[in-house]
Amino acid sequence: MERITTVKELRQRLDEARSQGKTIGLVPTMGALHQGHISLIERARNENDVVVVSIFVNPTQFNNAEDLRTYPRTVEADCEKLEAAGVDFALVPSVEEMYPEPDTRVFDLGPVAEVMEGPMRPGHFNGVAQIVSKLFDIVRPTRAYFGEKDFQQIAVIRRMVELEGFDLEIVPCPIKRHDDGLAMSSRNVRLTPEQREIAPVIYRTLKSSVDWAKNHTVEETKRYVIDEVNSFPHMQVEYYEIVDGITMQPITDWSQSECPAGCITCYCGDVRLIDNIKY
Ligand code: PAF
Repeated sequence: MERITTVKELRQRLDEARSQGKTIGLVPTMGALHQGHISLIERARNENDVVVVSIFVNPTQFNNAEDLRTYPRTVEADCEKLEAAGVDFALVPSVEEMYPEPDTRVFDLGPVAEVMEGPMRPGHFNGVAQIVSKLFDIVRPTRAYFGEKDFQQIAVIRRMVELEGFDLEIVPCPIKRHDDGLAMSSRNVRLTPEQREIAPVIYRTLKSSVDWAKNHTVEETKRYVIDEVNSFPHMQVEYYEIVDGITMQPITDWSQSECPAGCITCYCGDVRLIDNIKY
């Protein structure tokens, strides 16, 4: 594996690969890699000739300075994992390399970005669109891989791809979970042992809500999930929305969507966790 810190060098390497007709898979990450990331990399490895993984904690997508400051940074351990996973190129740039000047672009992300995480984290999706569009421009991947834990992010990235006219395939990959059901996340390391024991209630509740939904309304199902999760110590639901899985718009009746999805954000202590389920 080659560890590359400059955009220029990565472009050169990938131009060589492209001139030999090779396909390129990109897995954008913010590091603190876990098995969820590795599953994206394995998929990219199976489907492409060349695999590029970026590790970059993107400041423009953090709307909370403390969250940016405390985001786990484990680059050396991450690179060892990438090497073991058979990655060809790890892009590990500095902030100055990715943003030689401030990125002032404002993307017209439309309705997919106006709900759930949109209003909760102002500027977050615009920052994601900025960095992912830069990465797509640098790498020009054949395919790019994203985990479905960030369900709404995938819809936002699809919209950005449409706006910018990128010719590539977005590959959504299933959520990886611990044995107790908790969705893998770089933020889980911030949970205390007691909180870590309680946090699996999120997925347990989402799963049981699928049965509940069979004979309850959308509103009743939302109430069920919120009340159940909130009944546990340390847990505080920020929102639970049931939306159409493509448009991300909330539904009020099951008949309004062929692919409803429930998206939850909750605090476990002061750690913000997200998860989702398909109905
Ligand atoms: O999902 C993430 O880790 C980030 O939002 C991404 C896509 C790597 C952009 O910084």
